[in-house]
Amino acid sequence: MDAADFFEQLWAQYVAMAPQVREIRNHVQKTYGSTVNDHVAFRTFDQPGYTIAELEPAFLAFGYQRAERYDFLDKHLEAYAYEPPEDDLPLVFFSQLRTGALSGPAQRAIRQLLSSASAAHSTPAERLLQGRTWPMPSATQYELLEAESAYAAWLSVWGLCANHFTIAIHKLEPNVSLQQVVESVQQAGYPMNVSGGLIKGSPEQLLEQASTVAELRPVALSDSSREICSCYYEFAQRHRLSDGQLYKGFVAASASHIFESTTSSSGGEGPAR
Ligand code: NI
Repeated sequence: MDAADFFEQLWAQYVAMAPQVREIRNHVQKTYGSTVNDHVAFRTFDQPGYTIAELEPAFLAFGYQRAERYDFLDKHLEAYAYEPPEDDLPLVFFSQLRTGALSGPAQRAIRQLLSSASAAHSTPAERLLQGRTWPMPSATQYELLEAESAYAAWLSVWGLCANHFTIAIHKLEPNVSLQQVVESVQQAGYPMNVSGGLIKGSPEQLLEQASTVAELRPVALSDSSREICSCYYEFAQRHRLSDGQLYKGFVAASASHIFESTTSSSGGEGPAR
């Protein structure tokens, strides 16, 4: 499996989890022409077998290089960016939950789920395409996790997969602003994450970002069913450094708000479709 195959399979799974993202991409392509993917984000637990250190070889094998580290103390998360060997591959943003920062009961719930996961005899890249390999949490476990970490609750249900893909606004032709694209997506009826404002970041920070609110999907927990946030779509506009190169990093304060796209209260812009 090469990097192109990997991202193609990942996209197919992502649109199966959140069919709305395909509609949004179609809308942007119809309005502004072809789209390029800026980055893909993954989430994981810092638990044995699931750590970034154990899964990042997926990207290193494709020729990616680990770049900057980011800390999100209030969300109990840390993350690394990975830069691709070629410009036609996306950047990768890989975060993990510091499980030990949660309460004893929440930590036990996570360990209990992971201890029942099916054995992984797969490469790191294959594992990142496997989704959830542990049993569905119960409603009690889900609510316990959600109360402490929306990230942990999301991850317990969806597992290892793409959390979001991202349309590179700076690669659209002709030149349009992030604001224009986002307004167009909103007008088409897709609610946006307004945590920290509609547009996060600034040209001075070299990166502006916005994201949809994750689509609610019916999920059968181990003992009951409910609608749960699935995946969302991001839009990123990168600006150029003084040497003319596009900025390839991330902005921690903006990323922190983007994480909230899978928190059910993050939207404020009309009904979900
Ligand atoms: Ni992102």
